[in-house]
Amino acid sequence: AIDLTGRHFLKELDFTPEEFRRLVDLAAELKAARRAGTEEQRLRGRSIALIFEKTSTRTRCAFEVAAAQQGAHTTYLDPSGSQIGHKESVGDTARVLGRMYDAIEYRGSGQEIVEELAAHAGVPVYNGLTDQWHPTQMLADVLTMTEHSDKPLTGIAYAYLGDARNNMGNSYLVTGALLGMDVRIAAPRSLWPEEGVIAAARSLAERTGARVTLTEKVEEGVLGADFVATDVWVSMGEPEEVWEERIELLRPYAVTMDVLRATGNPDVRFLHCLPAFHDLGTAVGREIHRRYGLESLEVTDEVFESEHSVVFDEAENRMHTIKAVLVATLAGA
Ligand code: CP
Ligand code: NVA
Repeated sequence: AIDLTGRHFLKELDFTPEEFRRLVDLAAELKAARRAGTEEQRLRGRSIALIFEKTSTRTRCAFEVAAAQQGAHTTYLDPSGSQIGHKESVGDTARVLGRMYDAIEYRGSGQEIVEELAAHAGVPVYNGLTDQWHPTQMLADVLTMTEHSDKPLTGIAYAYLGDARNNMGNSYLVTGALLGMDVRIAAPRSLWPEEGVIAAARSLAERTGARVTLTEKVEEGVLGADFVATDVWVSMGEPEEVWEERIELLRPYAVTMDVLRATGNPDVRFLHCLPAFHDLGTAVGREIHRRYGLESLEVTDEVFESEHSVVFDEAENRMHTIKAVLVATLAGA
């Protein structure tokens, strides 16, 4: 049996395929129980600290709601409201919070910070997004793919288009390789994941039978795909100045209806971790529109609003999958 009690959740590479799949399966079980009104609270009396050094809608709410539904308490530490890294070291913070809380979630830039927290906390630490990985998002994406496909995981093909040198690009590449899936990255070469990440994915693929493809050609990347995914072209923490260059590089990788047609699969589904700049309806979006005259960025409104889009199932699944991480690491799975 798979027991994840006491484990951290820092990056996909720390897990075996069986362990990762167990978390997805547990999330499906918890989701079904929630729907049926038969959920049992396994985290009563527990407390979880949520450290956010970057903003969040989904991840924060998912942790708070998942914990509440399981009977646990959370404390939200906002991007400016704690001493961490400013007046107190990461290691000391970890030792303090570890004396009070049963687990700690951390969102920020450096993967080394969440790893450092984990080294000193003495309680499970969860990565709620770093510049390098977004592992809780991957649990939600994999659950969403299983819900929208009749195939076993190892039969599913997905293509990620756009900025693949960010957390989502890294996480998609490694997760597909870990789970034995057919994973394609279509992006300009300068925005492919770093060599070390590609090497890790290739070596995993040798063991799991995954197919790993990196290409600059959108058509090659998406042909036969069951799912097409993308993410914002500029991530949190990146400077304003990169917009111009990114738009130039990534314009051909926008997910349009033509891209979905190029899969050759009429049932293709669209994934996006969100937030998205699809309708330029945000302050940043309007500014980009004004400056570059684009009608949309990484995905068109047409695709986003189409029957292909499963982005809100994906968003809901953040909650069920994060609940699975909490239950598995704090109450045994
Ligand atoms: N997908 C995701 O992590 O969203 P938030 O930034 O809103 O948490
Ligand atoms: N790549 C994005 C993901 C947001 C959930 C970012 O890091 O801003």
